[in-house]
Amino acid sequence: MARPFTTATRPLLGGHAVPQPTAARDPSLKRNPAFARLTPADIAHFQSILPSASAVLYADGAAVTQDDLLPYNMDWMRKYRGQSSLVLRPSTTDQVSKILKYCHARGLAVVPQGGNTGLVGGSVPVFDEIVLNLANMNKIRSFDAVSGVITVDAGCILEVVDDHLRTFGHMMPLDLGAKGSCQIGGNLATNAGGLRVLRYGSLRGSVLGVEAVLPNGDVLDTLVPLRKDNTGLDLKQLMIGAEGTLGVITAASILAPVRPNATHVAVVAVPDYAGVQAAFLNARTMLGETLSAFEFWDSAACQLVDEHLSHVRHPLESQQPGAFNVLVETAGADAEHNMAKLDAYLEKLMDEGVAVDGAVAQDQAQALAIWAVREGIPEACSKAGAVFKYDVSVPVPDLYELVEATRTRLAELKVPGVLSVIGYGHVGDGNLHLNVAAEDYTKQVTNALEPFVYEWVASKRGSISAEHGLGLMKPKHLHYSKTKQAIDLMQQIKKVVDPKGIMNPYKYLPEPEH
Ligand code: FAD
Ligand code: MLT
Ligand code: ZN
Repeated sequence: MARPFTTATRPLLGGHAVPQPTAARDPSLKRNPAFARLTPADIAHFQSILPSASAVLYADGAAVTQDDLLPYNMDWMRKYRGQSSLVLRPSTTDQVSKILKYCHARGLAVVPQGGNTGLVGGSVPVFDEIVLNLANMNKIRSFDAVSGVITVDAGCILEVVDDHLRTFGHMMPLDLGAKGSCQIGGNLATNAGGLRVLRYGSLRGSVLGVEAVLPNGDVLDTLVPLRKDNTGLDLKQLMIGAEGTLGVITAASILAPVRPNATHVAVVAVPDYAGVQAAFLNARTMLGETLSAFEFWDSAACQLVDEHLSHVRHPLESQQPGAFNVLVETAGADAEHNMAKLDAYLEKLMDEGVAVDGAVAQDQAQALAIWAVREGIPEACSKAGAVFKYDVSVPVPDLYELVEATRTRLAELKVPGVLSVIGYGHVGDGNLHLNVAAEDYTKQVTNALEPFVYEWVASKRGSISAEHGLGLMKPKHLHYSKTKQAIDLMQQIKKVVDPKGIMNPYKYLPEPEH
């Protein structure tokens, strides 16, 4: 069953103002003086590698202006803005290799960019780094229905690949609200989670092979479509989740599951967070192997969707303040059997007083309407204002405490400009999205939230990034989730793979201590 695509491509310059450049807002960021600055000879060289006029976008102030490059310099949240004057749009792995070989020799810094839907500032430059945009690498290379292995260029859009697989009765094991814009390369680079981790596990387990161009231009080809391969270190895993700091992913082989032919969706209202947990426990025991998604959101999130997304209508009538909604999806081969299970589940929740209201979608339109509420939350939140996003993993019983503690703290500190504090996410994976919508990205709000949120997560031995990654937002805070030894080792690996540090600089890892 198809779900609605919540567009992640928003009109630029509408709504909130274009932010100041990131580096102007944060004086602690200093351009690395070791990086070369672009010269006319560099531009001419890139034009010789990429002969198509639209593949080299250089803001010379005449044919191309700095404003034309804004969509490549600014992130989806309008929080981070770089100042690059050059965007390269290669179509082949060989072109990527030639570009990186040249950048490595010249000491030119590079930011790999997919659909630019990342939520931690990793996909846009900080200063004048060259943007290497993968959108033109968009070929589906092969699909083998027997093994279920699909091999695609990194710039393929997730939804396009999923639609292609649909024609063969298969699907991508990964699904997220940005599926209409995000690319496979970006998905791998962030090890994106999303709505089906509960069913299909982490993306790491579904990726069989990766082709990547290393910072010196060498091509690392691990595109073997094998499920089992114990021959040495699993180097593809280095590229997955590295957020473009170790090289550019140019292709991937992914194990695509068979698409279930019967999918059912229910939404349930529960009065409190204890009810969310009870609903989850019952879902695991009663729905078993058919359970394919279990999401939750609070009433404050509901309110934002109501206020800001006129095209989305909540399927349940009353949304009591303090109450929660859960979305339960099942998927399998036997429609009648699955529907009966879901009905019995809902009946039990109502009989036992776990749920105060609930509805099972009777057709695809109703299922889409339920998903639209859940997937509309990030968009509604960003329409409300500037969004401070925290994406954490903590044990399920503790998860919502963080939202309550944050609300209490912001109220006690009387932080000006806070509009709403909401909690939602992939509760089945222990993954909370805490979002604070505010009038602007101010230091007062940031200082009230950080390190408070990170300290709270560390006190539960949680992760400060469950799925969105580190980007520019979290390198300084990595120590809340990783030991010094682990961070040291990551820095050593970075040094070996990218000795000049040209790949996506200023991000992901803290600067090594000297
Ligand atoms: P980009 O944003 O372009 O880049 C992200 C990072 O990957 C950057 O560091 C970039 O340098 C690097 N990168 C991109 N392409 C490559 C490449 N080919 N090689 C090497 N590095 C590369 N994330 C989740 O995990 N779960 C969700 O449920 C989810 N839902 C979302 C919903 C919305 C509405 C939005 C806007 C975002 C959501 N995200 C989610 C975050 C984001 O969509 C994902 O992280 C996505 O995987 C990023 O893909 P992208 O192509 O847009 O990458
Ligand atoms: C989601 O689950 O909706 C995504 O991770 C995006 C977000 O949290 O904004
Ligand atoms: Zn998420």
